[in-house]
Amino acid sequence: MEQHTDKLAADFILTGASRLVTAAPGTHPSADGALGVITRGALAAHAGRIVWIGPENQLAAHVALDGLPKDAWLDAGGRAVLPGFVDSHTHFVFAGDRAEEFQLRHAGVSYEELAARGGGILNTVRATRSASAHKLEVIAREHLRGFLIHGTTTVEGKTGYGLDLETEARCLDVMHTLATAPADMPRIVPTFLGAHTIPPEYRDTPDGRARYVDLVCEEMLPDFAGRARFCDVFCERTAFTVPETRRILERARDLGYQLKLHANQLGPSGGAGLAAALGATSADHLDFASDDEMDALARAGVVGTLLPGCSFSLSIPYPAARRLYAAGVPVALATDFNPGTSYSENMQMMIALAVSAMGMTLDQALVAATHGGARALAMEDEVGSLEVGKRCDLIVLSTADERHLAYHFGVNLVARTVVGGVPCAP
Ligand code: NIG
Ligand code: FE
Repeated sequence: MEQHTDKLAADFILTGASRLVTAAPGTHPSADGALGVITRGALAAHAGRIVWIGPENQLAAHVALDGLPKDAWLDAGGRAVLPGFVDSHTHFVFAGDRAEEFQLRHAGVSYEELAARGGGILNTVRATRSASAHKLEVIAREHLRGFLIHGTTTVEGKTGYGLDLETEARCLDVMHTLATAPADMPRIVPTFLGAHTIPPEYRDTPDGRARYVDLVCEEMLPDFAGRARFCDVFCERTAFTVPETRRILERARDLGYQLKLHANQLGPSGGAGLAAALGATSADHLDFASDDEMDALARAGVVGTLLPGCSFSLSIPYPAARRLYAAGVPVALATDFNPGTSYSENMQMMIALAVSAMGMTLDQALVAATHGGARALAMEDEVGSLEVGKRCDLIVLSTADERHLAYHFGVNLVARTVVGGVPCAP
């Protein structure tokens, strides 16, 4: 006989969480502190979305539990549970590696010097252009697995190692193929970064730069509209100027893209001011952003995305996180996973660097790595916190207390990653 009940239907139940970190303070009466922690919390989901969250001793009163199959239950075993990390800035589609360049850099050759010699981004462009879609997919899948086992449930991915119509399209195709793969994948948000650097074949003639910007604006952007959610530009003295960046991003905006910028990474490029003027979703790096630029970002509501893996890998100073907070800029933390300046899929490492090298509190770092990342992707209604109605994307740590993150560093503290109510790693 059909059971009539007012209780919520669920197909995924999480119990046994010592501390359920919602990253959504104030959304639940039992959620404490800046991270909105529910002690001995539980959660129920249906069709991939959270339908109930609260103290475990109230679960049975609200959720229909009878007859649920055993595999619908996940017991956190007295460990801490957090929203999955939202890594809002990565370059995970490429071929080859730059281990040799890494050694040269640490022997004293600068990143910009390597780029001037045809290394750096162009090194990876050569390898990526000669790789088939299948090969790129196999490599990218491996990296996505790396993101997942370290707790990332949503990952943005940029093109930018193709720099021609065909290879940029191939990299986007790879992201789309992987985004529709059946399971065991983080969510993928594709970004078009055709303006990553001027490709080699446009470097020898005086009008080459302008012709490449034309190609980006008149062929690539219209072709990829609807297939990449964001358009990003590397606005830097070694890459694209402020006027070039403005032209590309205004065209992108007209075509329906949302906007991001690599801004003020290697010098005071003016990118941060432009991000504010254009109302970009995020301005990323910001190592050289002035106080005025930070104020402008805050006024425009642009998310400042900090990428400490770059500073670590390049052995350069870290961005001024505390000044960003003081200015009132919403902050996101991301890996910038790429083969040149930050070869790490591990958001836990970024949290450790944020706390130990950038003076962020653990609460700030955890919010920046989850809710902040979601804001940087304009996905805060979907992911980044554990709340009713949002995607059931979460991680179970191997410890009872989330404060082991940053403190116990250089190891993987994620025991289980759940995407859309499906446990998929390890
Ligand atoms: O975010 N800054 C530009 N792009 C990447 C580096 C890419 C590379 O070196 O391959 C970054 O750091
Ligand atoms: Fe980047």
